[in-house]
Amino acid sequence: MEPILQNQLKLYQQRVNKHLKQVLNRLSSQSPSIPAQLIEATEYATLNHGKRLRPALIYAVGEALNIPLNRLDSAACAIELIHSYSLVHDDLPAMDDDNLRRGQATCHIQYTEATAILVGDAQQTLAFQILSEDEQLSDAHKIKLIQQLSQASGIEGMIGGQMIDIQSEGHLPDLAQLKTMHQMKTGALINTALHMGACQSEQYPHLKTYLTQYGQAIGLAFQVHDDILDIEGDTATLGKPQGSDAEANKSTYPKLLGLNKSKAYRDQLIIQAQESLSNMSIHSDFLKELTEYIANRTH
Ligand code: IPE
Ligand code: IPE
Ligand code: MG
Ligand code: MG
Ligand code: MG
Repeated sequence: MEPILQNQLKLYQQRVNKHLKQVLNRLSSQSPSIPAQLIEATEYATLNHGKRLRPALIYAVGEALNIPLNRLDSAACAIELIHSYSLVHDDLPAMDDDNLRRGQATCHIQYTEATAILVGDAQQTLAFQILSEDEQLSDAHKIKLIQQLSQASGIEGMIGGQMIDIQSEGHLPDLAQLKTMHQMKTGALINTALHMGACQSEQYPHLKTYLTQYGQAIGLAFQVHDDILDIEGDTATLGKPQGSDAEANKSTYPKLLGLNKSKAYRDQLIIQAQESLSNMSIHSDFLKELTEYIANRTH
């Protein structure tokens, strides 16, 4: 990993981890009636070794637009909670049925299936609670952030994409359908991170279209590379089971196009993303390096 990326990513990771920990600590100390197992399992599925890329995108775009970091913390925590919830539910027996996540037993294996369902529900509602309670933000900004996050993670975005993913097990879609599925299940949340980072800036209306161009390219590239890693990665490095897609007969880019064409497509998306980034009035070496990292990460 490039030095700028590594150092800055670490700072963003530490920052969002600290705030997530504070949020969960506050909950358990203020509300003693919450069952201890629910708090423990929610911490287990949240305070772990996720890469925190979505919070990093929020912080990086916000910083490049001179938004103080303390006005980005609730958005960073909220998007990570939503993403972590999507993983807890994605791993459930009724979904991808996986037993390893972020290098540890999946939530339903460590606890129970019912607990994991409730943990995901708790992470999701907590995300919106945090945004609505942030005293640093104007009401207009809170509503904007809630709207962006609910749209990207809901039925038009991640949840809709996950439904297509489940329905397409064993039924290989055409290229356009596969692209839609990947854009919805993964791309939408990554794209919305950029918009959540930018929306408090006066430059946002002018930047919106460019952010979407950039966000769609990295969002799709991210999932194409995830599909490739499922074949070429190893379980210990991935922190999740290699070969899970093949075992569940998932519809993926390598399955439809083969590995070489999938890699070429991923690389083409990264070139497009770099072009969109350089066309924007946002200057961030971190984002340039993060864009490359999306396609060469090993986990
Ligand atoms: C994994 O996302 C799920 C996908 C959308 C492909 P990440 O690769 O960002 O997972 P963590 O958060 O680092 O565990
Ligand atoms: C995940 O896609 C997309 C989500 C919305 C969680 P995958 O099912 O490929 O993610 P991994 O490989 O389990 O992380
Ligand atoms: Mg899945
Ligand atoms: Mg999965
Ligand atoms: Mg995958």
